[in-house]
Amino acid sequence: MFVGNVPLVQIRGLRTYFYTDDGVVRAVDGVDLAIHPGKVLGIIGETGSGKTVLALSIMRLVQPPGRVVEGNILYAQGNGKQIDLALLDPKGRAIREIRGKHISMIFQEPMVSLNPLYTIGEQIVENILVHQKVTPKEARDIAIHMLERVGIPEPEKRIDDYPHSLSGGMRQRAMIAMALVCQPRLLIADEPTTALDVTVQAQILELLKDLQRQMGMAIMIITHNLGVIAEIADFVGVMYLGKIMEYATVVELFENPLHPYTKDLFRSIPYCVRRKNKKRLEVIKGDIPDPYAKVEGCLYASRCSWASKKCLEDPPSIERDTGHMVRCWLYV
Ligand SMILES: Nc1ncnc2c1ncn2[C@@H]1O[C@H](COP(=O)(O)OP(=O)(O)O)[C@@H](O)[C@H]1O
Ligand SMILES: [Mg+2]
Repeated sequence: MFVGNVPLVQIRGLRTYFYTDDGVVRAVDGVDLAIHPGKVLGIIGETGSGKTVLALSIMRLVQPPGRVVEGNILYAQGNGKQIDLALLDPKGRAIREIRGKHISMIFQEPMVSLNPLYTIGEQIVENILVHQKVTPKEARDIAIHMLERVGIPEPEKRIDDYPHSLSGGMRQRAMIAMALVCQPRLLIADEPTTALDVTVQAQILELLKDLQRQMGMAIMIITHNLGVIAEIADFVGVMYLGKIMEYATVVELFENPLHPYTKDLFRSIPYCVRRKNKKRLEVIKGDIPDPYAKVEGCLYASRCSWASKKCLEDPPSIERDTGHMVRCWLYV
């Protein structure tokens, strides 16, 4: 798999912990992942799996009491050199230059990234001026063009709107415009369509797919919707309690899911992007263990129908088929 092809981002042994008064939350607990240039990596998993913290770790936006405590986030800068984002000062200049220009992030709720006090134009223009050597007038033209590309009608008027005067779908488009205006090599999209109604969800997904193809960027998309994964992802990582339980190409994962957690997820989360899914979905039995508890052995054992004595020990991550990784004793 990708022999001789350097990943855009190579994550190794990444741990991000929160040191709270109640104890330590191991939100990301030894993640290995590769994001390949121009490809889409989907991350799925239940709420609380550590998906958002993983994304924020790459951007170095994790706030205290959380911090990246171990591991590497090797980013291929494009000049043949790799830089370890895990070693950078999260407030320093080096990461600020990468954020927005090389790697951008969009969130489930656009109001997290859009400031209600400034027009969308002011915010996009500022982003351009930070990273590109252009005049304010040129930056405004670039912003209008980008708003047009993301399908905002009458962009030369809408550019002077405040975020709250746009509909949810239009706001999400504006946020995508802001994230993509400096042509990043990686877009991290954290549940970008979850807050939208189904028709708009499909439109935004289509837009992301088109822009991804036109701009050739890589995307890491976080979702709990399998339909979204099926439509857009090339590779998928299944995350549970801070660990990647399974990783494969999208075709391989859908045709041949191995981990009991992946199989249970497939029965419990929606497949469909375009229609409201009428079929009743099963709920995975049992609760997600307390994030403060240190679980010995397999993290899924307490909920797994296949669990045996062996699962009291932590299973290794093994390569079952080429490029298909699974962390489960059933396959050792
Ligand atoms: N600021 C914080 N303080 C303490 N725990 C946190 C903080 N942010 C996230 N966590 C914990 O980290 C774990 C992973 O959270 P998150 O990445 O948001 O999950 P997901 O995005 O998969 O739903 C959860 O147990 C969550 O409670
Ligand atoms: Mg999240």
